[in-house]
Amino acid sequence: MALTNSNNSGVYRASLLHFTNDPAFHQNAHAWHEDGLLIIQDGKVVAAGDYAQLKNSLPEGLDVHDYRGKIIMPGFIDTHIHYPQTDMIASPAPGLLPWLETYTFPTERKFSDSAHAQEVASFFLDELLRCGTTTAMVYCTVHPESVEAFFTESEARNLRMVAGKVLMDRNCPEFLRDTAESGILESEQLIKKWHQRGRQLYAITPRFAPTSSEAQIQLAGELARAYPDTYLQTHVAENTDEVAWVKSLFPKARSYMDVYDHYGMLRPRAMYAHCIWLDDADRRRMAETQSAVSFCPTSNLFLGSGLFDFERADALQVPLSLATDVGGGTSFSMLQTMNEAYKVARLGGSFLPALRMFYMATLGGARSMQLEGTIGNFVAGAEADFIVLDLQATPLLARRTARTESLEELLFALALLGDDRSVAATYAAGKLVHQRHAPDASHRPVF
Ligand code: GUN
Ligand code: ZN
Repeated sequence: MALTNSNNSGVYRASLLHFTNDPAFHQNAHAWHEDGLLIIQDGKVVAAGDYAQLKNSLPEGLDVHDYRGKIIMPGFIDTHIHYPQTDMIASPAPGLLPWLETYTFPTERKFSDSAHAQEVASFFLDELLRCGTTTAMVYCTVHPESVEAFFTESEARNLRMVAGKVLMDRNCPEFLRDTAESGILESEQLIKKWHQRGRQLYAITPRFAPTSSEAQIQLAGELARAYPDTYLQTHVAENTDEVAWVKSLFPKARSYMDVYDHYGMLRPRAMYAHCIWLDDADRRRMAETQSAVSFCPTSNLFLGSGLFDFERADALQVPLSLATDVGGGTSFSMLQTMNEAYKVARLGGSFLPALRMFYMATLGGARSMQLEGTIGNFVAGAEADFIVLDLQATPLLARRTARTESLEELLFALALLGDDRSVAATYAAGKLVHQRHAPDASHRPVF
């Protein structure tokens, strides 16, 4: 093996965790190497396994990064987030529709300005990396400039990101409107420029059914058929007022999801945020078409949208993934998102084991985006996006994790008590892109 130490190659010793299947449906779905070794060459995984077995394959004299005592796992995948809403996270409103009117639309207006968009995109990506998220499916705004800014910043960091221009031609302020034709034309230009350029991927992005005319949704469906390997993202069945609104706007549709289905928008690489107020016919269509759910617990609780039904989703084997939905969501951290996911499941009478939550935040996200083998676990040849998690990050986390008696208990404590402070380092395509520094000693209390 011609291994070298360069800025996208390296060998890392730590406890390793990754998934090869969904633990809800398969035995032996995870790999855990208590004393493990991860070997990276030119930004790709060469091998992940036990240190004792793999150490003999290393050339003499090669430096091994020693992360013993910490856990290395694949970077988190956040399947639904709005980068332009970074500056309005934690804005109060009594529900989705007033929140959109009062905060979201005025905030998104500013993204016609490329310099502003670039500044926010840069902060946003750094914040994701601080939280250990290496891939996200991202809403930009209606302005093509907002997409240019986002992909420019993502490409500069060599991240695998999916993003798209919002399509919105009615029921919104004039200053955020495109037209059915202009929106599709601009989306197509962005696809040609950015889709599959390096690690960037494009998502056709009708905001949600109420803000697109039938003509625009139809054209979005046609664009998705013309470019079948692009992504599609939208919101569905998040809030009861929104569901009633869709019923009045599309009286012939069987359900909210049926509006999208009618225009051919259910397909692999289609990501549906929320999916709270679905019925089993909708879920069956999602499973048949391999359209994915993006479950957004902090947002659903914050906006009072409702409780996602795990039991029905699992009964019909709908592809499931986990997301923050910032700025409706209240944290960039996928650990904090797991914390809230667990409680939503409990309130709905389900139980979410920690292993399932870590699966959803890694391989589950990759599968829901048809990216298994590329990201989400440590199979040979996968892109080396990984994080180093510190169980000592806070006094309480150190104390609690020292007293756990199984991997499940350890991961559960990490999910419930962890946040950005638990992420000691983040690597993208083998390169260090975030390192958490210990607090400055001069700031410690002196008494
Ligand atoms: N539905 C339509 N737009 C939005 C948005 O920006 N956030 C959320 N949570 N739901 C939406
Ligand atoms: Zn959203």
